[in-house]
Amino acid sequence: MFLYEKKLEYPINIRKRDLNLAKNLLAQYGGPDSELGASLRYFNQRYTMPDEKGAALLTDIGTEELAHVEMINTMIIQLMAGATIEELTSAGLNGNYTMHNHGIFPTDPNGVPFTSAYIETTGDWRADLESDMAAEQRARATYEHLINETSDPDVLAPLSFLRQREIVHYTRFKELRDYYIRKNQANND
Ligand SMILES: [Fe+2]
Repeated sequence: MFLYEKKLEYPINIRKRDLNLAKNLLAQYGGPDSELGASLRYFNQRYTMPDEKGAALLTDIGTEELAHVEMINTMIIQLMAGATIEELTSAGLNGNYTMHNHGIFPTDPNGVPFTSAYIETTGDWRADLESDMAAEQRARATYEHLINETSDPDVLAPLSFLRQREIVHYTRFKELRDYYIRKNQANND
């Protein structure tokens, strides 16, 4: 069961329009290493973790990733607020306007639609946790690319927060993987 808390995990108040950045932030909504992909991946993998400890960690992180989807979408909407059709067109968002007006849709910035192929589940704890660690590193790298594309402090603060959370998630997945490796070795002694 989920309880919704009516506030963002980190406050977002963007005052300056930036349509190019809005478009590129779609990478973290509908791209292969997106917050949406991460959330669904962990919620999907949790059932085949070896024990309750692993299931709980994947549930915790999957839930936080969903809060990050909310942050990314809030940023995109605020960056696009008040944009004219001409402005959207010059930023390459005319396709988005045609199909979704000022709304958002889970694609990557190149228009490639989100797919369940991004969810990556093998049912093998080691393969899944190592793929999760790599996914967190890819998400961190994407945040660094986005940080390089702006100098707006209103955008940099939440992006830096999100980048830091990817590092925390990577570390927690690594700790869990190492714990299972040690446990398996002990059982084989
Ligand atoms: Fe993450």
